[in-house]
This record gives sequence, structure tokens and C-alpha cells, in this order.
Amino acid sequence: MSDLASVDGELLPVAEARIPVTDEGLLRGDGVFEVLRVYGGRPYALPDHIARMERSAANLRLPLDPEAVLADAVALLDAAAPGDALLRLVVTRGGHRLALLEPLPEHTAGLRLGTVTYAPTRVLDGIKSLSYAGNMLATRLAQERGFDEALLVTPHGRVLEAPTSTFFWAREGRLLTPPLEEHILASITRIRLMEVADVEEASCTADDLATAEEAFLASTAREVQSVTVIDDRELPGVRPLTLAAADGFRERVEAELAAGAG
Ligand SMILES: Cc1ncc(COP(=O)(O)O)c(C=O)c1O
Repeated sequence: MSDLASVDGELLPVAEARIPVTDEGLLRGDGVFEVLRVYGGRPYALPDHIARMERSAANLRLPLDPEAVLADAVALLDAAAPGDALLRLVVTRGGHRLALLEPLPEHTAGLRLGTVTYAPTRVLDGIKSLSYAGNMLATRLAQERGFDEALLVTPHGRVLEAPTSTFFWAREGRLLTPPLEEHILASITRIRLMEVADVEEASCTADDLATAEEAFLASTAREVQSVTVIDDRELPGVRPLTLAAADGFRERVEAELAAGAG
């Protein structure tokens, strides 16, 4: 992995990449970010991520220059040729733009999810903000209990999403996912999956978790990852809808990359 990063359009070694300590992006988590997937050095769904970042910034009343963010991303990828990686784009309240490369996280084959009570901050609806401490804590709380990842559930028992991924489950042979009205992120992987697989939006309750025939998490970093355990329940071992969704998503990525979209 190259050690290059970009700060305000300047390429430099990541160890020398700096923003002022007074930046409210750091002090208050006031800023926006995106993480996108790089396949063989090529960004996937880059226009979608820039568009979501623009929407996040508009909702947060944060000045953002999408062309500069795009140019930073392209220049970093050209210079670093990272192969398979994640690309993180950040714009802070202090007016700084960061582009960073990260190795792909290692993921376990079957995810064990522990539910964690979580109430989304309504005023941050439609904003992928830097205020992610609650999401990161939820993962740690689940891991303290021996799980791989958290499944966020409201105090009223509605299942939302995972801290950095969307939740899908199967009921009576149908694939379902919570609607965006539940104050979850408009995931780009979720949109793609709804185009390649037969998915319905439906609220998910504790009863649904108790009877789910299959479940998986989906995100830029995970793609589609099968869930094997939710709290004290082991899910059935046969997962045809999960496998079909994973294959459909993979084919879609390959088709988009082959068509030069990115
Ligand atoms: C809260 C949350 N939900 C879902 C996702 C998945 O979104 P995407 O498919 O755009 O990566 C993310 C991604 O980081 C997230 O932070």
C-alpha cells in the first residue's frame, strides 16, 4: 500500500499529512466523509459517493467543492496506484480536504451480530458526518460481549442497520431491508442490491430477528456478508438469497467497472 495521502489537493506521505488542531472537524466531529472501494486501482461508484457527500455537506451547512474533492481522489489514485483498497474522503468544518488510502479490512466469513440499543440523532438525517463515535462504540460494545459486530436497534425495538453497514434479512423466502425512513444511511451498496435482487423495504422487529431465515450485512467495505448468529440465535445454514445477492452485486460491480463507470 502506497503511503501517499492528499491534504487540500497536495500529495504527501501520510505521516506528514496534517490539519490544524483547531479544526472543528476534529474538535466537534463537524464535517463529512465518504469511504469508497478501489478495485484494482479503480474507484467504484465514485460519482455516487461525491453526490452523497455533496448532499451531506448541504444538509450540514458545510461549504464543499465537489470538483476539488473529485480531483483530489483522482490525483491520489493516479499517484498511488493502490490495487484493492478503500479510499476515504473527508471535508472538515475548518475547510480542509483529506483523501486517504486504507487497506481492505479483514472480515470473518460468517458474522455474529449482537444487538445494541441505539437512537439515531434525527438532526443528522441524510448526513454522513464525522460524528461517528456512537457507531464505533456500538461495535466495541458488541465485541465486548463476544460478537463480531453490532446490530443497532431502537429503544422501541426497531432494527436499523449496523454501525457501518445495511441490514438485510429474509422472511418467507423474501429479501427485506429497513426503509430509509427509519433514519438509516442511504447506502450506495443498498441501492445497487435493490437493483440486482428482489428486495422489499419493511420495518424489522425483534420477532423478525427471531424467525429470520437468512440475514446479511452490506456495505462498500463488506460487499455482502452473511450473518450466522444474532444474539443467542443461530440462523439456518442454507442461505440461497444471500448467495444470490452476493453474486448479483459482484456481477454488477464487474459490469460497471468494465463499462468504465467509476
Ligand atoms: C451507518 C451506515 N450504514 C450503512 C453504510 C453502508 O453504506 P455504503 O453502502 O454506501 O458503503 C455505511 C457505510 O459506511 C454506514 O456508515
